[in-house]
Amino acid sequence: MLSVENVTSSYGRVEALHGISLHVDDGEIVTLLGANGAGKTTLLHVISGIQPITSGSIRFQGTPFERLAAHVRVALGISQVPEGRQIFAPLSVADNLRLGAWSRTDDDEDIATDLARVCTLFPALKALSEMPAGALSGGQQQMLAIGRALMAGPRLLLLDEPSMGLAPNLVDQVLAAIRALKDDGLTILLVEQNARAALAIADRAYVLETGRVTLEGTAKQIQADSRVREAYLGV
Ligand SMILES: Nc1ncnc2c1ncn2[C@@H]1O[C@H](COP(=O)(O)OP(=O)(O)OP(=O)(O)O)[C@@H](O)[C@H]1O
Ligand SMILES: [Mg+2]
Repeated sequence: MLSVENVTSSYGRVEALHGISLHVDDGEIVTLLGANGAGKTTLLHVISGIQPITSGSIRFQGTPFERLAAHVRVALGISQVPEGRQIFAPLSVADNLRLGAWSRTDDDEDIATDLARVCTLFPALKALSEMPAGALSGGQQQMLAIGRALMAGPRLLLLDEPSMGLAPNLVDQVLAAIRALKDDGLTILLVEQNARAALAIADRAYVLETGRVTLEGTAKQIQADSRVREAYLGV
């Protein structure tokens, strides 16, 4: 579904990604692990079109992607849940969700179906729909950020550290929701520092270190790797 080939990207003169290659196949959860500053967010931004690519290529469902504007990529089926959630705090939960669908050109009925699906996945959002989003707890805001991204009707969902700052029971809830999305047919690229949580639901994993992929394999292989166990799992 997604293939990233030898991608480099820079901030000014400083190169942050030094030739990244990875792929995500239909229906997979692929997780991208790495410490602070490894380049995880930069890579997601390059895929979604927020951060320019310097060289390399990106294909999504066979279409060359790297020169398309971000909103075109959304329309073609990629939606991102940003780091730190970035919900619109003064707006209601319902309005945050509606904004997720702003770029859609299909009819209102399809959008209403997706809204119902988000409310089934996250029943709390339905109960809180008229509340200002800023009044929600961290876990609820994360669910809202995911719900908003789903309202764009994606085929591939990019998630940037959805477990960040959440209490352990909420981490489990968010992960269960991500797992349910996969079971529903969605393809997912999951960025996490919480390697243990991410590997528990992922099919495959990549480890990113200072702008390079240093390890890749099935979630089982990565979980068993002694370097990962030491550096990311604290074993
Ligand atoms: N806007 C920016 N301007 C300049 N340098 C940046 C900018 N954003 C990120 N960088 C640098 O690019 C590198 C990769 O950062 P990035 O945010 O992609 O890492 P990350 O893996 O997402 O880290 P974290 O786990 O902290 O979110 C780091 O060295 C960072 O300092
Ligand atoms: Mg980041």
